[in-house]
Amino acid sequence: MRILVISDIHANWHALQAIQESYDIALFLGDLVDYGPDPIPCIDWVRNHCSHMVRGNHDHGVAQRCFFQGQQGYRFLTGITRPETCARIEESDRRFLAQMPLTKFLRIGDLRFFLVHATPRDPLDEFTTADPAIWSELTKDIFADFVLVGHTHNPFALKLNHLTVLNPGSVGLPRDSDWRASYAIIDGKNIELKRIEYDREAAIQSLQATKFPDIAKTMLQHVYRHGHLPIR
Ligand SMILES: [Fe+2]
Repeated sequence: MRILVISDIHANWHALQAIQESYDIALFLGDLVDYGPDPIPCIDWVRNHCSHMVRGNHDHGVAQRCFFQGQQGYRFLTGITRPETCARIEESDRRFLAQMPLTKFLRIGDLRFFLVHATPRDPLDEFTTADPAIWSELTKDIFADFVLVGHTHNPFALKLNHLTVLNPGSVGLPRDSDWRASYAIIDGKNIELKRIEYDREAAIQSLQATKFPDIAKTMLQHVYRHGHLPIR
């Protein structure tokens, strides 16, 4: 049983379609939208291919039409790209984002999985590192073999005493200075963290075709090419 685990697509269709793995089940850990130029094909792909999914903070923000002005970094980018994302998606897409659950327990074969975008105590927003002590505390009441998380855009697999915490990294907006799409495969109890190159110049062309402000296009182009924001 090969399980494809993906997270944080962030409307980057070119990155998503580069993942050409064979799999039996696909699981999605949240953040389909915001930042990227192509929310609609990404939403359609997850709707049609993922057996189970959870809602990310960006899915929640777009679904609820939460608009704000961020001062810098990714929060600034969210503030200036979200209006265009909200304008482009259909009402049925908005409902799809809104109806994704915050957490999900499931069993696949002999293995039990708990899915959540951020952390079990704060499913949408808590940002934490791959620290064994922190994750031992955060998962002490979870009865599962795997806890699957996203949100930080930094891939890791952490084997704790009672379970394994897996973050597949970000498909569409890595932040670890490696621009390639990040994802994971679980096959039995084996975990593979994988990266794959994609046509980033095509993704940048899609960015240029949006109505995003020029500063957003410049910042995102840098992230697509380098895997991190420009230093200002
Ligand atoms: Fe994200």
